[in-house]
Amino acid sequence: MSEQKNRFILGIETSCDETAASIVKNGEEIVANVVASQIDSHKRFGGVVPEIASRHHVEQVTIVLEEVMAQANMSFKDLDAIAVTEGPGLVGALLIGVNAAKALSFAHQIPLVGVHHIAGHIYANQLVGKLLFPCLALVVSGGHTELVLMREHGSFEVIGETLDDAAGEAYDKVARTMGLPYPGGPHIDRLAHEGEPTIKLPRAWLEEGSYHFSFSGLKSAVINTLHNASQKGETIAPADLSASFQESVIEVLVGKTLKAAEAYGVKQVVLAGGVAANKGLREALTSAFAKFPEVNVTIPPLSLCTDNAAMIAAAGTIAFEKGIRGDMAMNGQPGLPLVSYE
Ligand code: KG4
Ligand code: ZN
Repeated sequence: MSEQKNRFILGIETSCDETAASIVKNGEEIVANVVASQIDSHKRFGGVVPEIASRHHVEQVTIVLEEVMAQANMSFKDLDAIAVTEGPGLVGALLIGVNAAKALSFAHQIPLVGVHHIAGHIYANQLVGKLLFPCLALVVSGGHTELVLMREHGSFEVIGETLDDAAGEAYDKVARTMGLPYPGGPHIDRLAHEGEPTIKLPRAWLEEGSYHFSFSGLKSAVINTLHNASQKGETIAPADLSASFQESVIEVLVGKTLKAAEAYGVKQVVLAGGVAANKGLREALTSAFAKFPEVNVTIPPLSLCTDNAAMIAAAGTIAFEKGIRGDMAMNGQPGLPLVSYE
């Protein structure tokens, strides 16, 4: 029997505030992984400033690429393809990664593959273990909250999405109102574990059977609770408010995931996106599915939940195998829809 050749794919990710490059073997094994975070530069503005993000990507992209090649001890001729986040994200930020990928692809004559950022977050799970189909992905990040059904590799069916704010966005806005630093998600998560969910807050279940989400009502309820208290000269314990907010978010996320998993008879549930780093969500999802041992629950390690390029290389490997190719006309696409690899 002939041995299958190993496939090495370089991933590049610059859609928001991390400049990242990674080399992944056969779509499953990280060979090298470099992430340069810009969080410190955006912190004092309370959010990501697109212009600053682009400038940092320009400064960092070559350094990060050199570092990843050195870490892997590989040269460009060893690569089978270059996968890059094509969208969605900040246009100026995306363009830096796309242009770096195009330049390398052209100079070294290596195939180019465009990757959807969310497909990347989902495929972070393939770096943990092989996906089992049908698979349901709960995608929770700063810009997205989606339930994605996958019937096979490269097939993405969005069965539910947020009608307003993304989960991470709600975390960051609530944190900002509470005077916590950016990004607020990890701070609320930490505080939530120090408090009790004593404050009554709404749960947006929407109409019966809907897999859509809505977090803006909850966000407003938290902001109103804080304003009302300050007008009355009362104080609210940040830990209790965090615990109450987090409970409301998690109950809806996990409740809808359970319902969808049952309705579609999935074999696996995977968690994806920056909010997947949330300790409360990780615990709640694991314990909710403990009653369903036939469903495998996979949660990536923290470093693969937030933006990275290993996930882009992993998703890029599947896209490459399905024959997806980019060309020199590739552009950053801020509103790129998630479509299946045909
Ligand atoms: O996936 P990601 O790194 O970037 C986007 O693609 O948006 O996600 C960033 C989001 C931020 O909103 C951040 O507050 C949130 O993930 N986040 C968390 C936690 N860690 C990061 N949210 C809740 N709990 C956490 N522990
Ligand atoms: Zn992301």
